[in-house]
Amino acid sequence: MMKSMGANEIREAYLRFFESKNHLRLDSFSLVPKDDNSLLLINAGMAPLKPYFTGIKTPPRNRMTTCQKCIRTGDIENVGKTSRHGTFFEMLGNFSFGDYFKKEAIIWGWEFVTEVLKISKDRLYVTIYLDDDEAYDYWVNNTDIEPGRIFRLGKEDNFWEIGEGPCGPSSEIHYDRIGHKVNTVEEFLEASDKDQIIEFWNLVFTQFDKDSEGNYNRLPNPNIDTGMGLERIATIMQGVNNIFEIDTVKNILNKISDIAGVSYGASSKSDISLRIITDHTKGFTMLISDGVLPSNEGRGYVLRRLLRRAARHGRLLGIKEAFLTKVVESVIENYQGAYPELKEKKDYILKVVSIEEAKFNETIDSGMMILNDYINEMEEKNEKVLPGEKAFKLYDTYGFPLELTQEILEEKSMSLNVEDFNKEMEEQRNRARSARGESNYMGSEDGIINKIDKDLNTSFVGYDHLKGESQIAVISSGLEDFSDKISAGEEGFIITLDTPFYAEMGGQVGDRGYITSDKGKAQVVDCKKNASGKIIHLVKMLEGSFSVEDKVLLTVDSDRRSNICKNHTATHLLHKALKDVLGDHVNQAGSYVGEDRLRFDFTHFSSLTIEELTKIEKIVNTEIMKAYEVATEEMTLTEAKEAGAMALFNEKYSDKVRVVSAGCYSKELCGGTHVRNSGEIGLFKILSETGVAAGVRRIEALTGFNAIEYIENKLSLLSNAADIIKSNEKDFVNKLNNLVSELKDKEKEIHELKQKMVSGLEEEILNSAEEVNGIKFISYKLEDIDTNSLRELAEKLRDKGGDILVLLAGTSEDKVSFVAMASKNLVSRGVHCGKIIKEVAAVAGGGGGGRPDMAQAGGKLPNKAQEAIDKLKSLLKSIIN
Ligand code: ALA
Repeated sequence: MMKSMGANEIREAYLRFFESKNHLRLDSFSLVPKDDNSLLLINAGMAPLKPYFTGIKTPPRNRMTTCQKCIRTGDIENVGKTSRHGTFFEMLGNFSFGDYFKKEAIIWGWEFVTEVLKISKDRLYVTIYLDDDEAYDYWVNNTDIEPGRIFRLGKEDNFWEIGEGPCGPSSEIHYDRIGHKVNTVEEFLEASDKDQIIEFWNLVFTQFDKDSEGNYNRLPNPNIDTGMGLERIATIMQGVNNIFEIDTVKNILNKISDIAGVSYGASSKSDISLRIITDHTKGFTMLISDGVLPSNEGRGYVLRRLLRRAARHGRLLGIKEAFLTKVVESVIENYQGAYPELKEKKDYILKVVSIEEAKFNETIDSGMMILNDYINEMEEKNEKVLPGEKAFKLYDTYGFPLELTQEILEEKSMSLNVEDFNKEMEEQRNRARSARGESNYMGSEDGIINKIDKDLNTSFVGYDHLKGESQIAVISSGLEDFSDKISAGEEGFIITLDTPFYAEMGGQVGDRGYITSDKGKAQVVDCKKNASGKIIHLVKMLEGSFSVEDKVLLTVDSDRRSNICKNHTATHLLHKALKDVLGDHVNQAGSYVGEDRLRFDFTHFSSLTIEELTKIEKIVNTEIMKAYEVATEEMTLTEAKEAGAMALFNEKYSDKVRVVSAGCYSKELCGGTHVRNSGEIGLFKILSETGVAAGVRRIEALTGFNAIEYIENKLSLLSNAADIIKSNEKDFVNKLNNLVSELKDKEKEIHELKQKMVSGLEEEILNSAEEVNGIKFISYKLEDIDTNSLRELAEKLRDKGGDILVLLAGTSEDKVSFVAMASKNLVSRGVHCGKIIKEVAAVAGGGGGGRPDMAQAGGKLPNKAQEAIDKLKSLLKSIIN
């Protein structure tokens, strides 16, 4: 009899089961892929394990089991509408890296399903790939499934491959939800289409390597990759209809339903919103806990999109206030057992969510204003359909929901062009797709760098020595392929058995220097590690040549290294000082430790004040001046945590870690190189503090002679400036203040003079009045006058001139302003300033309008100003005629 199991219980049962089959159980990897450019987010249990499948890395054990956090956004539009789609899900998996294969995968799959989950055998079906007789035989001979419950399907259903690389047939296990036996493939497929039979476990037998010509080459050591959606199996175990009704997920959904005061089942529209908020909140909570922050590109955009969609569906449910943090709390409550990082980072997650939600609410408000502008424009032009691009712009730039745009338009008896909107949407998707690039199943970069024998040992000996002899193990001249030899003029790479060169890692740049012997000399231009950790010297061969197995001398540029070390240790001191001054929410979000400067990105939610920066700089300099030893120690991760070492927010550490302590002040997990004594840093100077993304700040700073040089430059700037104002440094500020106030006085004087000139002009202008058809009028052009003064002047002229029409033009370099004013009497005789000015301004390339007695306009062609006001005469003639 199948028992009902909670999702957390199923997860544990699965992992335990495979532990009992000698699998190494690992925690879920971060959603952020590591060293894998082919993938934006982890989308399957096997994704973070690719290097083990391709053989680039040796796995800690060749059997593993995980419950992996996954996000797939391909079907985001369907989330909530169907019972199956979600963007965030957990995938249970067992993996074999060249160890067991089909037979065990099948036997254990069946055992777990029928004996641990106790799913009744007459509710199960299995599919296999068309010609996979091997799999068929194992199912029939090694399990007690009825052969009539096995169906053979084609490539579409039972072959797992994406692009080139490892791939293979699969076998899927399906559950019959209604208890109606099917007997043929056709019946089976029909029942699947209707969701009466659902697939829940995919066993992939990775036995081929597909090459670029499309050949399927058999892998010498085939692998096993399985994936079972936890939510999917939980719906089966709990006998519910969809993934939103299983225990853990339902708790979250209920919470939202409480907040909104809308019960689940009330309407299909509100149910969709409830499901979307539930799914998306799980996703963005997990993303934030894995160190992703909202932004407009890449992972940050996925996060922003999920959060905004959730917020907008909150509005559709009628929630007026910010509410997402309450939902996040429920996600944390339900998932912290399996993902303890949620609990550890709770405050931080809530902060990020509340800031982003507030920002979204603001954008919604500005989107509302833009939409109102569009509506006014449409009313003016008597149009009824909002163009698709405009609706898309609102959606894309302002995160403004299409449904909301539609609703508001409907109130005005308007609509929008959905077809064009969808076209824009599709184009944007294509752009996103091509930006992501094509990836293959393993997503590995196939470059020569990753073909280096993974069993080759290259050790770093450069913590203590900057010079050392070793033997060349691998050469590539030209980076296309391996070679035996590299000769003068060629560029490529050299790998030696050990090396004092530090390979770029953890923000610290790679070392430079030389590789020499009596046979030749190579310049090391950079040093990097490949995916399996081999240290690779990128070289330019300067003289002679080197061959594999040559003995060579490796010499690191020591001045450069010394500057790098100063910056690295200073980065640790800065990290700690930031935590001390700003608080524990500060976490490293990225860093660059170079020869010239250091850059440190960290989580914090507002810009730093001058006081905070001064304080931080002072703390770091104080620690430098204490001149204490900087020590490194190897210990276990647990010991390091107990000792209070700071670790990176989003890093998976191995069991043995290296801890760098700068006196008693800072203790941090780190593989980089450091000064021996903090005093060597000499001086620390902050250059700038800026924002790089929502919630992430950046400090750039200098150390040692770079800091001294920077200060020297500032001082010389100061003395140059003092020379220019004929002062010395002592009196500099006084003198500058005096100059500034003198300048202000002069400006005031000039302003007053100008005004006098203008009022002197009044007489002159009044005297220039003319008359046409009995209408007294003035048309006058002034230079360099602002619109306000122009209007004031026009008012005065009208008041003094009696029954008069005044038209003034004021020009500046690139524009002209017009003001027209008329006395009441003239207005009653048919003079209309608004109409006049419209025609006048048109001559000078502009437009405008206004009331009969007063109007204003602008034009872009100041050189047409005279021509424009000259037009007045003819206008007046026609008015009276
Ligand atoms: N990698 C396989 C899947 O995602 C197991 O279905």
